[in-house]
Amino acid sequence: MTGLAGTPVPGLAPLWTHDPVSAGPYRLVGRLGAGGQGVVYLGEDDQGDQVAVKMINVDLSDSRVRSRFMKEIAAARRVVPFCTAQVLFAEVDGERPYVVSEFIEGPTLYRHVQDHGPVAGNALHRLAVGTATAVAAIHRSDVVHCDLKPDNVVLGRDGPRVIDFGIARALGGTDTVTSRVMGTIAYMAPERFRNDSVGPPCDVFAWAATIVFAAGGRPPFGNDSPFAVMHRVLNDPPDLPPLPRGLDELLRQCLAKDPTARPDAENVLMRLLGQDDRVTGPLRRETVLQVGNETAGTVPPTQPLSSPRPGSAAPSQYRAPAFASGAPAAPSTPGGGWGRRLRRESVDAWGISTAIFLGSVGAAAGYVASSALDAAAATGAATFVVVYVVRLLVATALGDSSDRR
Ligand SMILES: Nc1ncnc2c1ncn2[C@@H]1O[C@H](COP(=O)(O)OP(=O)(O)OP(=O)(O)O)[C@@H](O)[C@H]1O
Ligand SMILES: [Mg+2]
Repeated sequence: MTGLAGTPVPGLAPLWTHDPVSAGPYRLVGRLGAGGQGVVYLGEDDQGDQVAVKMINVDLSDSRVRSRFMKEIAAARRVVPFCTAQVLFAEVDGERPYVVSEFIEGPTLYRHVQDHGPVAGNALHRLAVGTATAVAAIHRSDVVHCDLKPDNVVLGRDGPRVIDFGIARALGGTDTVTSRVMGTIAYMAPERFRNDSVGPPCDVFAWAATIVFAAGGRPPFGNDSPFAVMHRVLNDPPDLPPLPRGLDELLRQCLAKDPTARPDAENVLMRLLGQDDRVTGPLRRETVLQVGNETAGTVPPTQPLSSPRPGSAAPSQYRAPAFASGAPAAPSTPGGGWGRRLRRESVDAWGISTAIFLGSVGAAAGYVASSALDAAAATGAATFVVVYVVRLLVATALGDSSDRR
């Protein structure tokens, strides 16, 4: 199966006879898959840009249900694209509602583990960092994923991406959720079975269950009969495969029965990055998502959304050998690392503030020395530029150490 411009999209199935052929400006070129909420199609616009179009199998004719849906999707659109597939827009007025999001080429984590076995070593660490970065980014926008699981992690060619955030909550209260629940029990936190309030700790639990699945090929409370799994989730300790001690401890805390005993997603990410040999210094809240994004190997969000274009298509398989064997991931190219660091340091709030402060000191000193406003402004501007550029070059050259703040 090929896309508009002949770029093969692995796993893309032909449209069925009664499938829609378009969604808004997008031509639907094939089926990416189907789940409890509906069917996901690959869409392409006139320029050949590809998107994932999820046609939702739910009745949104009730205006309250529709407005709740739009509110949740609007919040999902605000999530910064760190290790996530960006939600682009949703349409609810036609016969069939749909949500359009960034298309990530690659297998889901579930498929990858089925085909290649568990993930280990550095690949597991990068997966944990990438997915925790996504969850932390989602929570920063006050969105709760509500359906994090290995089927909702796509292993893109540049790193793992979490998809479908907010959609389950957007559909809360509709019949779809009730029927879909059966498929995702193995990743659901105990408070969901108790009908307690559903908040960010549910995603932390689901994140840990997803990583346990990646590492051992089986979720921590099994995957047999729904009632047996539910019973274990509510009463039994998790069953984890052999893991590095730090990760084992972290996952157990995230799988605590009491949601208030679980760390929040940002704390999880900080702790994972703290276990990374390449990150040795204290981490700062302002940059932690960016550091997580880079550690996971995902394209920084300052770059345009990745739409596979003719001629730029990457290998279709997600670094399967590194995942399967646990071999260290290939280091990023020196040019790429330098470029990323330069971009990050150029907008570093601390660096800019220091340059502004010393620029003001320079301007004051210039005024004291010359009593002329022109000279003071010139001295201040020159001081600002020199401090900004020197700090930028030094921080970029030291590279890794700036990642460690
Ligand atoms: N943004 C995306 N980029 C690439 N592939 C996607 C994207 N969204 C969905 N898919 C593909 O479509 C498939 C079906 O997704 P869907 O969300 O409908 O099912 P699911 O995740 O298995 O179940 P659920 O309905 O509970 O989320 C996924 O397994 C994935 O292969
Ligand atoms: Mg999904």
